Amino acid sequence: MGHDRLFIKRDDMTGLGQGGNKTRSLEFLLGDALSKGANAVITAGGLQSNLCSLTAAACARYGLRCILVHNDDPPQMREGNMLLNAILGAEERFVGRTDEAARTAAMEDVAVSLRSRGERPYIIYNGASTPLGAMGYVSGAFELHRQCADEGIPLKHVGMVGAMGGTAGGFVFGTAVLGHPFHVHVISVEYPKEVLLRLMKELFAGLADLTGVSPVMPPEEVMTIYDEYLGAGYAVPTELSRRTLLDLARTEGILIENVYTSKTLGGFGDLIRRGMVPAGEAACYVHTGGLGSLFAQNAML
Ligand SMILES: Cc1ncc(COP(=O)(O)O)c(C=O)c1O
Repeated sequence: MGHDRLFIKRDDMTGLGQGGNKTRSLEFLLGDALSKGANAVITAGGLQSNLCSLTAAACARYGLRCILVHNDDPPQMREGNMLLNAILGAEERFVGRTDEAARTAAMEDVAVSLRSRGERPYIIYNGASTPLGAMGYVSGAFELHRQCADEGIPLKHVGMVGAMGGTAGGFVFGTAVLGHPFHVHVISVEYPKEVLLRLMKELFAGLADLTGVSPVMPPEEVMTIYDEYLGAGYAVPTELSRRTLLDLARTEGILIENVYTSKTLGGFGDLIRRGMVPAGEAACYVHTGGLGSLFAQNAML
């Protein structure tokens, strides 16, 4: 990519299921569920939701019942994350192609019916992009900072995905608490940058309330958001993202996917080419996983 000190933080290898960023959110959310005595967890997403399959894996590890609400119709064939969900023993409800509000209402209906049978359900809202879910990447920022200190790497730039904003929101908040040791380049893969900024600012406020910590500087100052790599929109690959996916696989043997990670790495690589991430300054791309979904993306290549 034209950079000699480019590192990858392998959060695709977080050690649960197929790996990925949501493992860090689930550490906090399932901790909350367990501390409240829950015996079942409900979450929602599309058929290929990485959060859904990681929630299924985390529930399996803790002996919790897992119910996944999919805002789609049952698929003709089980592939990608849908296959993993079945292997992991999750239960599924299909509510057709509804919007997020209807999907949330469907989760609440499931919770009401479980409670009426004496169960203790816990709902994971908003794709885990809540202040508590975002805590996963507050600690992710601290972890990366410590790893760089241990290895003597003077890290200056981090390339990070931004969809609903929980991952980047937590990481940027953590970076601001640390006093801006590196700059965070957030590549938007879902919304225009004004929308992502608004979502992230809501999370910053929620994280300050939750932790009682005010960062030494406004979190907005330690990041830059880019939406020029979004192309035609969420989950629509661009020429750059397709090429990045194939190049990384064929030069490093590392797999990324078409919705989140190839757009992010493609964008970060372009920032390097344009000199906005200078080749002489150590940089790190955070690989957020999503391997399960890649096995249902034949049509996107
Ligand atoms: C693999 C992967 N990367 C990145 C993201 C984006 O995370 P966020 O919604 O916290 O911005 C997701 C969201 O589901 C994901 O599955």
